[in-house]
Amino acid sequence: MKKHRLVSLPSLREAARRDPNCPISYLKADTKPDSFLVSWGQGKIFCIRTYGCQANVRDSEIIRGFLLALGMKETDSFAEADFILFNTCAIRENAENHLYGELGQAKDAYEHKPELIIGICGCVMQEEVPVKHILDHFPFVSLIFGTNNMTSFYSLLEEVIKKNVLLVDVRSGSTAVEEGLPESKESRLSKVSAFVNIMYGCDKFCTYCIVPFTRGKERSRKVEDILSEVNCLKQEGYKQVTLLGQNVDAYGKDFGDKYAFADLLEKVALTGIPRIRFVTPYPSDFNTKVFDVMAKYPNVMPSLHLPVQSGSNAVLKRMNRRYTREQYLAIAHELRERLPDVYLTTDIIVGFPGETEADFEGTLSLCQEVKYDAAYTFIFSPRPGTPAYFMKDDTSMATKHERFDRLKDLIEKLTAEKADTAVNQDVEVLFEDVSKKDPSMITGYDRHNKLVHVKGDKSLIGQIRMVHILESHTYSLIGEVKDE
Ligand code: 5AD
Ligand code: SF4
Repeated sequence: MKKHRLVSLPSLREAARRDPNCPISYLKADTKPDSFLVSWGQGKIFCIRTYGCQANVRDSEIIRGFLLALGMKETDSFAEADFILFNTCAIRENAENHLYGELGQAKDAYEHKPELIIGICGCVMQEEVPVKHILDHFPFVSLIFGTNNMTSFYSLLEEVIKKNVLLVDVRSGSTAVEEGLPESKESRLSKVSAFVNIMYGCDKFCTYCIVPFTRGKERSRKVEDILSEVNCLKQEGYKQVTLLGQNVDAYGKDFGDKYAFADLLEKVALTGIPRIRFVTPYPSDFNTKVFDVMAKYPNVMPSLHLPVQSGSNAVLKRMNRRYTREQYLAIAHELRERLPDVYLTTDIIVGFPGETEADFEGTLSLCQEVKYDAAYTFIFSPRPGTPAYFMKDDTSMATKHERFDRLKDLIEKLTAEKADTAVNQDVEVLFEDVSKKDPSMITGYDRHNKLVHVKGDKSLIGQIRMVHILESHTYSLIGEVKDE
């Protein structure tokens, strides 16, 4: 068993602390590797496994950038790797359990190659209990760090290599925005479509959610840093940016500007990058000025993901969501009226503590009224440390599953009906990749973010083309590319 050095491991309570007087600091991270790491990295191979949301995907891209700068190459296989990193997600229990399964497989690789370095980062590492579980049960792990000190990656790695210790360095909610992270095209997962963080953290504290603990205080990047990243991506040939934040419409609140997100979106539209998306807005921060920008700029894609979570006011209140069913419906109706072509999608949690049949029926009726174009549905997963974890919950798991199935059937019906309307229409598709299931097919997304498959070759990747839709399959469309 490795000796371990615990640099820092804050409690969830510490992570929840918000000091309204503490200013956000803007730092230029020093992320140049030294000669020791560069010579260590030459010829070595890394493997990154990423779970969870787009914020994690983006974080993994940043670490990928760090490793590529050491001259390392990437693999998908644990057996080939000299360094394996798990970037973890804490949002629901099953994501956490998946990590433990994968660690078991990494152990086999470690037994064949004892010099293999195994690291774990991301949201799960921001929680004390799982970190202690890993220390007790997975002694072959060498490096644990969280979401707030990724820019210390080189110094952490160097210490692990030189001292052969297990290093745990997890920092609680940062108040810093760090710029100067690796930005090379190679480090991004797709060469066509890129995630761009516009803000970090979340101050909403929905009672079921672990994110405000694992990702810290809301802090916005500066407009000029975001625009310079978007312009750079455009120059490198990227066709789409997705602006990322836990609640993007809170962007700029820390500068005291409530229209800041709509203004930022407009500035990004003016860069001329062909496609812009954004996730995720929060209903009570949502300012319909965003609709004006969506209406004015054709490069802002006509899709809006606006999580509702529940259609019952009683449940919304217990969730600490700061809007009512009626306020949410007012935004949805205004959207449908002003921008009838925009796809509206959502997130819904079923089986929140105390949810009654009548509450659940309120969710069903809201979905019917809004006519969502698609939705992500989840069964409530109690997250240790969050307020909902301690709430009385007397609904059986069987009832929760039964409600979940009823909701899923409704959402599938709405999604399929909408998908069917695309058949025999021409839609504009940005092609991103070869299909995972059938290498003779190329996949992309239409303006509504609907997955589209066509027969074709790799030369389509990166192109925006008109596609005639032949078939709809609820979650995807099949079509043929039209001649130019
Ligand atoms: N249980 C179930 N779903 C959750 N989500 C967040 N926390 C939980 C939880 N504890 C869902 C919400 C959120 C989406 C990203 O994940 O619907 O919008
Ligand atoms: Fe979690 Fe609510 Fe913040 Fe979304 S807004 S990240 S659900 S706390």
